[in-house]
Amino acid sequence: MEKLYIFDTTLRDGEQAPGFSMTVEEKVKMALQLEKLGIDVIEAGFAAASEGDFEAVKRVAQEVKNAKVCSLARALHSDIERAGEALSHTENRRIHTFIATSPIHMQYKLKMKPDEVLERAVEAVKYALKFTDDVEFSAEDAFRSEREFLYRVFEAVIRAGAKTINVPDTVGYAIPEEFGQLIADIKNNVPNIDKAIISVHCHNDLGLAVANSLSAVKNGARQVHATVNGIGERAGNAAVEEVVMAIKVRHDYFKGIYTTINTKEIYKTSRLLCRITGSFVQPNKAIVGDNAFAHEAGIHQHGILAHRETYEIMRAEDVGVPASKIILGKHSGRHAFKTRLNELGYTNLSEEDIDKLFVKFKALADKKKEVFDEDIEALILEEMSDFDKEVKVKYFHVLNGNSVIPTATVKLEKEGNEIIETASGDGPIDAVINAVEKALDIKGKLMDYTIRSLSSGKDAMGEVRVMVRFEDSENVASGKGISTDIIEASLKAYIDAYNRYMARKAFMEKRISEGV
Ligand code: KIV
Ligand code: ZN
Repeated sequence: MEKLYIFDTTLRDGEQAPGFSMTVEEKVKMALQLEKLGIDVIEAGFAAASEGDFEAVKRVAQEVKNAKVCSLARALHSDIERAGEALSHTENRRIHTFIATSPIHMQYKLKMKPDEVLERAVEAVKYALKFTDDVEFSAEDAFRSEREFLYRVFEAVIRAGAKTINVPDTVGYAIPEEFGQLIADIKNNVPNIDKAIISVHCHNDLGLAVANSLSAVKNGARQVHATVNGIGERAGNAAVEEVVMAIKVRHDYFKGIYTTINTKEIYKTSRLLCRITGSFVQPNKAIVGDNAFAHEAGIHQHGILAHRETYEIMRAEDVGVPASKIILGKHSGRHAFKTRLNELGYTNLSEEDIDKLFVKFKALADKKKEVFDEDIEALILEEMSDFDKEVKVKYFHVLNGNSVIPTATVKLEKEGNEIIETASGDGPIDAVINAVEKALDIKGKLMDYTIRSLSSGKDAMGEVRVMVRFEDSENVASGKGISTDIIEASLKAYIDAYNRYMARKAFMEKRISEGV
């Protein structure tokens, strides 16, 4: 049996994608869940990239106990020092240093000759060894690099002490057969390759990141870089849940290769990421999409009932998808509610949190006949956001119809003060957003707006997701809101995005005032 190590880069490559940035607290929360999932190495950030990243790597290193914590660093002394400093809070640490090796990157980005790149790579690995004995080296754009040069670089960095050599398909250009062949060739042509683990890092520009990673495993790679829900630069990275389940379900094909991932935590991890970043996965997404285990067609249902394996290659329970049960209605008590929370895996909520959730649950049960697990998760999402909310909605009402100008009034609470404003708009949602902007004296550009139903039935809760660029901010803030009323869900989503924007702004201002 041979172990395949899972290196999770959700908090680094994943976070680089627009709309997925996370606060330090959010990263810590995500890292603790990744640890529960059984991830071997958590890349917590790129410590030298920003103060926020440095802080995140440091905090994750302080909090995580079982997984190895890693920081990315360019092949520069200053980057490596920052990574070493941020990771100094744990013994269980890795520095991941990289430099590009493809002709196009060396000529146009680095403006360096191949021999200079090789020398810099070796120097970086040696320097990183001063901070930890676990150094991983990545040859950025390895797939488009010249083979002989790539072999020389890998041989040299392994001699310098790198324990893992990573082979990125940085621009997502490879085809599975070719990528597998590259790994086989590295195994056969790098003389000291037995002293290092071969790792791969595949991007999904052609939708092949998982296929390429699996082909690499078949050919000798023993570490895969991946992200939750496949988030990452551009079209994303290989999705961790897909790689892990492919290895598990097709153990007959990947003979003797296993991961130590606790697959029952997959669904929860995916949902936590959505909750934290205000994103959601497409319904037909493999493993974690809403339809992944739904068997709609009559013929499939008949087959499944007759013998499960006619259409099912894995069970929803294997990845921790809770069976969708109707939970008690408006007459259910706190005890039953708490029991269901536990069954759904929310075992670490305080009594105070449960009290707050129970009040919300009762209010919802008054509006909806049946409260599903999805509805309960939505309540948790709303109630348990991880930052202090600057603004809260006290009430709103909207005048709308086909013969009136849509007009909305909102009452908000900001820093203990109540503000009431009224505005009109092209439609009821536009009117509500205009009223909010007037009340907060801010302008936001709505970059994206999506809505979906969370559970079934006419009274289902609607989930709205928005992406807003506030004022002159370079970053887009995402927000999510849930309600049985889509105007209320939209209002909550907009306020959520504003609160996230303000939380980030306050964090950056605090760091600047501290002189860091
Ligand atoms: O895509 C890439 O090449 C990377 C490296 C830094 C590993 O993210
Ligand atoms: Zn990448």
